[in-house]
Amino acid sequence: MLQPLRRKPARYSLDAPTIESILEHARPLGHREDAEFLNLGFGFLYYGLVRSLRPDHIVVIGSGYGFSVVCLALGLKDNGRGTLTFVDPSYSLLRDGPLRTVGGTGQWDDPAKVRAHFARFEVEAIVTHHRLTSEEFFATYDRSGLAPIDLAFIDGNHSFKSASHDFMAVVRQCRRNSYVLLHDTNLAVREFLRHSGVRRLTKGIARQTEAFEIVDFPFASGVALVRVLEDRSPELVPA
Ligand SMILES: C[S@@+](CC[C@H](N)C(=O)[O-])C[C@H]1O[C@@H](n2cnc3c(N)ncnc32)[C@H](O)[C@@H]1O
Repeated sequence: MLQPLRRKPARYSLDAPTIESILEHARPLGHREDAEFLNLGFGFLYYGLVRSLRPDHIVVIGSGYGFSVVCLALGLKDNGRGTLTFVDPSYSLLRDGPLRTVGGTGQWDDPAKVRAHFARFEVEAIVTHHRLTSEEFFATYDRSGLAPIDLAFIDGNHSFKSASHDFMAVVRQCRRNSYVLLHDTNLAVREFLRHSGVRRLTKGIARQTEAFEIVDFPFASGVALVRVLEDRSPELVPA
């Protein structure tokens, strides 16, 4: 099989000015970051996973200011290969209400501004934004010509129904040893009020031991890492 062309970056990304810029402009929400110590928190995990796994295609569902997108895309840039598909309808809490989004600020309304935002980190050629809900996006995935998903980051609508939809829609496009990150596994109050169901979803995934391996990092808002054990896993409904 032909290997994709690799381009060596002129410099590697995670120097102090870039970390400061990520913290200021791609504003993490609940990723265990600590600006005083230039600590990207889970952002280092996202970047490190990309450097070590070397995915060709990453899909990100939902992002307030692009923190996950930028950390993952910088990993691709430093690997010299790979693309990132970013799916977000650009909901805003004020405009669309808390049932649609909590962290949304209408950041992704204008394609020129979206491009400029990612250009700040020199990843605009790596990231393609689709202003769609994940439901709309995955409805046409099989006809889209997009590659299988090697690594996904799910952080869109956090209701149990939507998070389950996103997880299963992603897994249908995965292969054996693809990985999926689920953000916001540690929102106890919202989970109790049934405003979020990501933690409940992770419990269902953990029970599907023949299909998935999972580890949770229950710090800050929490993130879980899932390994997909089979090509195109069958219909699994974590409940
Ligand atoms: C940062 S994220 C998620 C939330 C935040 N961490 C929280 O605690 O709720 C918010 C983003 O998810 C996006 N979003 C909401 N519903 C979505 C959906 N169905 N598909 C894709 N993205 C969605 C919104 O547009 C917004 O930009």
